[in-house]
Amino acid sequence: MTTVVLPVVLDRADPAPLPHQLARCIRDLVAHGTLRRGERLPSSRTLATDLGVSRVVTTQAYEQLVAEGWLAARPGSGTYVASDGTNLPDPPVRPATARTGSSLTRLDTGTPWIDPRWSAGWRRAWREVAAARPPRGYDDPRGLPELREALAEHLARSRGLVVHPDEVLTTAGATDGWRQLLGVLDPGPVAIEDPGYRAAVVTAVAVGRSVVDLPAGTTPPRLDGIIATYVTPAHQHPTGVTMGAPERVALLAAARGARCLVVEDDYDSELRYDVAPIPALAALDHNQVAYLGTASKAVSPSLRLGWVVAPAPLTERLVAQRAVTHDTPAWAVQRAFVSLLRDGYLDRVIRSARTVYAERLARVDAALSPFAVRAGPLAGMYSTWLVPAAAATRARDDARRAGFDVALLSDYCRSAARSGLVVGVGGCTDAQLDTALQAMVNGLGEDNPGGHRAPSWS
Ligand SMILES: Cc1ncc(COP(=O)(O)O)c(C=O)c1O
Repeated sequence: MTTVVLPVVLDRADPAPLPHQLARCIRDLVAHGTLRRGERLPSSRTLATDLGVSRVVTTQAYEQLVAEGWLAARPGSGTYVASDGTNLPDPPVRPATARTGSSLTRLDTGTPWIDPRWSAGWRRAWREVAAARPPRGYDDPRGLPELREALAEHLARSRGLVVHPDEVLTTAGATDGWRQLLGVLDPGPVAIEDPGYRAAVVTAVAVGRSVVDLPAGTTPPRLDGIIATYVTPAHQHPTGVTMGAPERVALLAAARGARCLVVEDDYDSELRYDVAPIPALAALDHNQVAYLGTASKAVSPSLRLGWVVAPAPLTERLVAQRAVTHDTPAWAVQRAFVSLLRDGYLDRVIRSARTVYAERLARVDAALSPFAVRAGPLAGMYSTWLVPAAAATRARDDARRAGFDVALLSDYCRSAARSGLVVGVGGCTDAQLDTALQAMVNGLGEDNPGGHRAPSWS
């Protein structure tokens, strides 16, 4: 019998002791079905070496899980998964005190679920990096040529955006692409959707731009005097609404009239369930739109990798700026991403994530729709629910008491007055999601116990 490799990451900054963290990770893997009944775990010594911790950590974690019934130790043979996680008693009731900070499980919009079944592809990519030789001097300021070629193919295939590899510049993520664009745009204010992506606002303010609040969903937007407008057409962040064709045409017309650049943040368009992803806005007018892509949703935000496709004059300015600042992502990350794209890893993890997110978002729907109105279609890795502010706050507080961090829609508002909940489904297990939803339902149902459809306000 083979021994499984455990996809476990321990966080030394987490206040929870390492044996507790490890036990929690293994428990989740079993509850989630990643580890199945009968599978043999690595020996405590091997696991300690793999994780770079002392053997006491792994022994304590295994002992705890044996005591809880998740694992079984067979003397002379090893440690095995004893339960498939479906017939276990409910987890201990959490204390009713509100928790804060890192002890909360984040149901956020930014933590993706990655299928550990494809980890061989991940390891292969990094082995290729280890075998390759980095360039001896500074990289091409546009980014690694092989990656830009692979990205141009990917954009044509998945986003209907046909571009030459030299038009693609790699960045350290969508937010970094925005920051770099801000460095080459003419002086003047920028407009950002409200509610909208908070990092885009902070980034613009940090480089000294004034930010105009652009009410999300307004058609046509008023862009006179604005240098660039930052939008999320595929999946408005955070309301989840998809920009329709008439609104796209109106936005581009308004931008042309005002000589305003449209910056399209296409952060999670690959995650659609009901219909095929709508082609990128940049595919409609490549001269008016700068396109921002990212590996943060499909693979991991910690890769810090993204790409920008801008109108030709801006690309020239970006390249000139980068030739001086050396502001390209790390060679090793770019090189690994070439392998992840060419090997089919990216397609596989996206396909797996789609299945998991669609299923989890359906659970969120089933739990919350008697009490709230979903704001957009089923898409991405979060859904947004419109409810009055008091009910949203109660649900958020009840989720916190149960150990989960859920955002309020108002957290993303600047001048807009929108209330509701934004529920992410990537950073938790199915069991955790159900516990969190139960807590939210308790909060939402307090003055609406039978659960009926709330009026549709925004
Ligand atoms: C709207 C939006 N855009 C982009 C990103 C990703 O940004 P980056 O590529 O800088 O990690 C996120 C991450 O949460 C997001 O919510």
